[in-house]
Amino acid sequence: MTDTSKLVIAIDGPAASGKSTVARKVAAELGIVFVNSGAMYRGFTWWVLENEIDPVNSLLVVELLEKTIFTCGEENRVGTLTIDGRPMGNDEFHAETVNQNVSAIAAIPEVRERLVSEQRKYAEVSGVVMEGRDIGTVVFPDTPHKFYIDASPEVREQRRRAQGIVDKIAERDKKDSSRKASPLTVADDAVVIDSSHLSADEVVAKVLTHVGG
Ligand code: DC
Repeated sequence: MTDTSKLVIAIDGPAASGKSTVARKVAAELGIVFVNSGAMYRGFTWWVLENEIDPVNSLLVVELLEKTIFTCGEENRVGTLTIDGRPMGNDEFHAETVNQNVSAIAAIPEVRERLVSEQRKYAEVSGVVMEGRDIGTVVFPDTPHKFYIDASPEVREQRRRAQGIVDKIAERDKKDSSRKASPLTVADDAVVIDSSHLSADEVVAKVLTHVGG
């Protein structure tokens, strides 16, 4: 591997497939920036709720979107996000109300268009490992480094419970895979890795082998 500053690694997969942990470790190994695109959909969902807007009222959501300023940055090689100047962190990303409403917000085409354009900006300034649902299919379709990390529904539910997070994974997967705008699908040229019976480090090793090979 030579110039990592232009490297773009796309890691997609369903909720709790382990893709965040893997993406974070791959980025650290390569010394490039880790970006969790789901956090951006979560941050905006939190902002919608904070503004007391009904998440299923897409007209009002888009009206808010148009006046919202997103600032993407990085700190210690991890992508950061502020919304209208407010830093978004774990509390905003993992509130139960956010889990319940993020799929509805992420299904709105205008929201996706705006966040996808923000996501592409990260790769203009450094190499990135970005994880999400449509990174290989929509955000960076031209990168040769695409991975789809999966795990059985039982293993994924168990991983969320172990994190102490209340999240109706099966319901969210169904919504994320069946929506019209950029549904969760496997890119034709993605390397598919089933992480059900693998440790995070084993998955990381597989990704690094493909990227370096
Ligand atoms: O990765 P996550 O579970 O934190 O993502 C939260 C939600 O955001 C997920 O239910 C679907 C949506 N999402 C998306 O639509 N596209 C992405 N690239 C990332 C996340």
